[in-house]
Amino acid sequence: MSPDIASVFQQRFGQKPFVCASAPGRLEVLGNHTDYNEGFVMSAAVGQTTNVAMSPVEGSICTIHEKGRDCTIDLQEIDTPVKGDWRNYVKGLLVELRKRGKHFGAFNACLSSSVPLSAGMSSSAALEMAFSFALKTIYGIELSLPDWARVGQAVENKYLGLNSGLLDQFSSLYGKKDSLILCDFRTVEVLKTVAMPAGWTMVVANTMVKHNLVESDYNQRRVSCENALKTIQKKYPQVKALRDVDSAMLESCRDLMDLTDYRRALHVVGEDERVMQGVKLLESGDIRGFGALLFESHQSSRENFENSCPELDALVEIAHTLPGCAGARLSGGGFGGISIHLVESDKAEEYCENLKTAYQAMTGKTAETVICSIGDGARIVPVKED
Ligand code: GLA
Repeated sequence: MSPDIASVFQQRFGQKPFVCASAPGRLEVLGNHTDYNEGFVMSAAVGQTTNVAMSPVEGSICTIHEKGRDCTIDLQEIDTPVKGDWRNYVKGLLVELRKRGKHFGAFNACLSSSVPLSAGMSSSAALEMAFSFALKTIYGIELSLPDWARVGQAVENKYLGLNSGLLDQFSSLYGKKDSLILCDFRTVEVLKTVAMPAGWTMVVANTMVKHNLVESDYNQRRVSCENALKTIQKKYPQVKALRDVDSAMLESCRDLMDLTDYRRALHVVGEDERVMQGVKLLESGDIRGFGALLFESHQSSRENFENSCPELDALVEIAHTLPGCAGARLSGGGFGGISIHLVESDKAEEYCENLKTAYQAMTGKTAETVICSIGDGARIVPVKED
């Protein structure tokens, strides 16, 4: 939680806020593009959070104060997103709540965030979930946690046009400190919590190649997965989603489908299998084995799903050569953004420096690295009494 979002609120609005809420960004550790195929992901919430202090107000004008400046949202003008405006996430949330018959009024809010933007840590889900928790408290909006995640997903899918899955919002809600969570996106629950191995740290390395997923091939990848599924279902009618398909089944349908769709499905089916294998390896303490799966995942992204880029490939290639790294892969949607690296904690700082130097030499670009802490999911933070 940022030092004092409540005091910032008090300074700006002359009263204590009614509620403070905090929601973290997330890391996709293993399981790429499996969520919208009803599959499995190992993910974590990061220590970086988005924080919102909020109180209800009369009328239709919501005032949001951030970094010393005010902006507003008029509840009568929320139906249409404005390209490139971060308030779309809040407006979309309000639109989706309204669609679900939920009643709310205007608010004053202060916002601060330590989740880096456009960096594969899902700052947007953190923003959506922090506002969700604040709004639910001030207006008594009743929804289950999975439904709050679905509201956030609907903001992306319906309001903004990115057909993403539930991973980002779900992980922001359900993350557990110092742990990885095994998410099941059919039942929409956490199947298991696996402790982050002692002495190991997640390093995030940002290619600094911006990805705009709405305009990227993300939606196209999803269509390919759906095409592959339809073909498989002709042979295996019991299959409901790619989650129900194993490598042997997919192989038996290979000649029936478009080669590109086959390769996309191969990635997803392989990822589901790697996630399950990964959990077992971590539970048995085989960190190197787990790391090898991260490398395999990246290779499959690069060759089959084609959601990598030369800069991400460079970071992962360097990871193979540096001491102290068990595995690395692109993380999140891809097409730019970040890679994650599983690194021995006591070597992490040196690792970051070496990675950046080698990346600069290979690509001429400057990467940014973060040694990530793993935090808890979204929460309401008590407002301190004087
Ligand atoms: C983005 C989406 C998620 C998920 C990942 C890929 O982060 O928002 O829903 O599909 O890409 O695994």
